[in-house]
Order: sequence, then C-alpha cells, then structure tokens
Amino acid sequence: MSRYSVAIAGCGPRGAYHAEGFTKNADRFDLRAVCDLNAERARAMAERFSITNVYDDVDRMLASEKPDIFCFATLPEVRLPLVELGIKHGVKAIALEKPLATELPEALAIMKACKDADIRLIVSHQQKYGKAWRTVKDLIEAGEIGEVTKIHATARAWLSQLGTHIMDYMLWFNDRSPVKWVVGQAIGTGMLSDSHPAADYVIGSLEFANGVRGIIECGAHAPHFVPGDNPLLDIKFWTDSALTIHGTHGYARVTTGNGWQAFTRSSKGEMLSGDGFFDPSYEQPLYIRDLADWLDGQIENHPCDSEISYHGFEAVMALYMSALDHRRVALPLEFDPPGDLIARLGKELPQNNEYAGQ
Ligand SMILES: NC(=O)c1ccc[n+]([C@@H]2O[C@H](COP(=O)([O-])OP(=O)(O)OC[C@H]3O[C@@H](n4cnc5c(N)ncnc54)[C@H](O)[C@@H]3O)[C@@H](O)[C@H]2O)c1
Repeated sequence: MSRYSVAIAGCGPRGAYHAEGFTKNADRFDLRAVCDLNAERARAMAERFSITNVYDDVDRMLASEKPDIFCFATLPEVRLPLVELGIKHGVKAIALEKPLATELPEALAIMKACKDADIRLIVSHQQKYGKAWRTVKDLIEAGEIGEVTKIHATARAWLSQLGTHIMDYMLWFNDRSPVKWVVGQAIGTGMLSDSHPAADYVIGSLEFANGVRGIIECGAHAPHFVPGDNPLLDIKFWTDSALTIHGTHGYARVTTGNGWQAFTRSSKGEMLSGDGFFDPSYEQPLYIRDLADWLDGQIENHPCDSEISYHGFEAVMALYMSALDHRRVALPLEFDPPGDLIARLGKELPQNNEYAGQ
C-alpha cells in the first residue's frame, strides 16, 4: 500500500470536508498544503488540520509541494485552469468537486487533458457512500426488487447544484449501463445568474442501454421527499433529493435527507425502512480512501471516476440540448458539443423565476 502526498485548493466548506477525508485516512495520505485566494480561509483550514504549508496561489503551491494528488473544491467557474496546473506539475490524480464543468467543451477538455497526461480523475458525487445508499444498492444486488425497470431521480435544487449528483446515482444504481438517449424540457431563468447556473426546473425522460427507463426531475417543481417544512435554501431543501428504483418485484427509495424505504420480495407487504441523512464526515473519507486503492490497483474502478462522472455530465447537458432544440438527443454525443447551452437558456427561455414565491 502506497501513501500519497496531497495538496488542496479551495478552503470553503467543501474543501474542509475533503481535508477531513484525507486526514482521516492518514495511513494512505499525507495532506501537506492548502491554498485559497482568501488568505484568512486558508489559514483557518490549515490551523484546523494542523497543516504548516499555506498558499494563496495554486501554481506556487504545486511547484513547491509536488504532490501526488491535487484536490480542489472551488465554485464551478474554476475547473479547467486548475486541472491544467495539476498536469503541469505532474500530479498522479486530481480530485475535484462537482459539477465537472459548466459547459460540455470544458468537460471534454478536462477529460482529454487527463487522458493524455495519464492522470486519474474523480468527481465528488460521494453521497453513494452513505449507509442508506449502500443499503438500497445491496437490496438491488440481492435481487430483492427483482429486475430493475425504472429509476426516478429527483432534487429540489437546480440542475447544476444537484443534477449531476442524481444523474450519477442513476448510473451507479444501474451498474453504469450508459444512457442511450434523453428527451428534456427546461423552464425558468431565475437560477441562470447563480454561481451554479441552470434552468429552474428540468424534467427528462431517458433510456439506458440495458433497457431500464429513467425519469429525472430537478429544481423548483420536483416532488418533496423530505417531510415537514422545507423552506427554500434550508438544509431540508438541499437534502430533498431522492432516487426511487422500481423493479419487477418491488421498489426501493433513498432520500438524501430521509433515509431509505423499500417494498421487496421478502418484506411480505410490509414497508422496510431505515434512517440516514447527508453526512459528508462519513461519506468523504470512504470516497477519498477508494482513491488510494484505485491508484494502488486494488480496485478496477473508482465509484466516482471520470468515466461515470463525464457520462453523467454529458447526459445532464443533453437534457438542455433536447429542450432547446425540441428533439431526442442520442448519447454519447459524437460531434463537437455546443458550448453555449447556458447562454442559450438565458436568451431562448421565457424570463421567469420558477422558484419565486416558494
Ligand atoms: N459533493 C457535495 O456533496 C457538495 C456539497 C456542496 C457543494 N459542493 C460543491 O463544492 C464546490 C465548492 O463549494 P463551497 O461551498 O466549498 O464553495 P466556497 O465558494 O465556499 O469555497 C470555494 C473556495 O475556493 C476558493 N478559490 C476559488 N478559486 C480559487 C483558486 N483559483 N485558487 C485557490 N482558491 C480558490 C475561494 O476563495 C473559496 O474560498 C462547488 O462546486 C459546489 O457545487 C459539493
């Protein structure tokens, strides 16, 4: 087993969860340095995790530290330039926050750059490590709901916040069978000016290569699965996302903020259920640990590797292509993908904030 040196950029809430993930796996990782444009944030995170090497410039940090792994947790506006810096300084792996990119050409450029440089890439869709998520996955793998026929994925938060999470989890529950096509509809321009720009509500129908069908609903009009008051931008809002997996003999649901429920072959008409709530302090260390095992060759794929992450991103963006062009979009996209989908949503959708009044 190898031990890998690590440097992190972006010392906001998510950067801290990544730092926790690396330090809780100190037998596999040596977190050496942190960096933020905001010196105060960088100092605070360094102090919390007892790190002495603190930077305000990623290029300088990577040049001095020469880490094996570069992890960054910045807002979506900063992706490709940081990937390029990691490559320039010869890292073995890059771990970045979701979403992979804002537009398709950037996602493709990230994939190509990492492939050309033989660098491993993971994207933090780590909720799949949660206990409730693993319970549902185990029920499916044990055949408890029979053959999977349909997956309904929902999130109350908009597409670039939680859409790549739930698309990724559809792929994961469906054993990575690729999406064959999507048909999407998008409405609402309120969130196009957010740090995570997206239409306010997107609904899509899709078919996977193994014949399983999917429905994805993301944003202002998605159904609630977290009971009780759920005000906009409250923790309940952020955790009100769910995957319901239907099979020939039952169904199972996991909700980010409301555990899991299932009717199965052996539950004899009773609803099975268990607790579970979004817990990055539990999920992140498991996600991070798998990176060391993947680099060591102990596991063939990382559950959040670039293959699943890119395909999920491509499928999410294909929903916009379908909505804007009024057509079914086949995957994988085999041409130069458009780089103006977010701008087109702003120009072509009726101006309306679908979250207003919620
Ligand atoms: N995986 C999850 O479950 C999950 C949950 C919430 C948020 N996120 C994602 O995490 C990301 C970060 O979220 P956050 O809330 O921590 O954001 P944040 O804005 O609070 O923190 C980002 C930090 O990055 C720093 N930064 C930006 N550019 C930089 C650069 N070039 N060099 C160094 N530092 C730089 C900023 O100064 C800031 O301190 C977002 O993409 C968000 O979507 C993921």
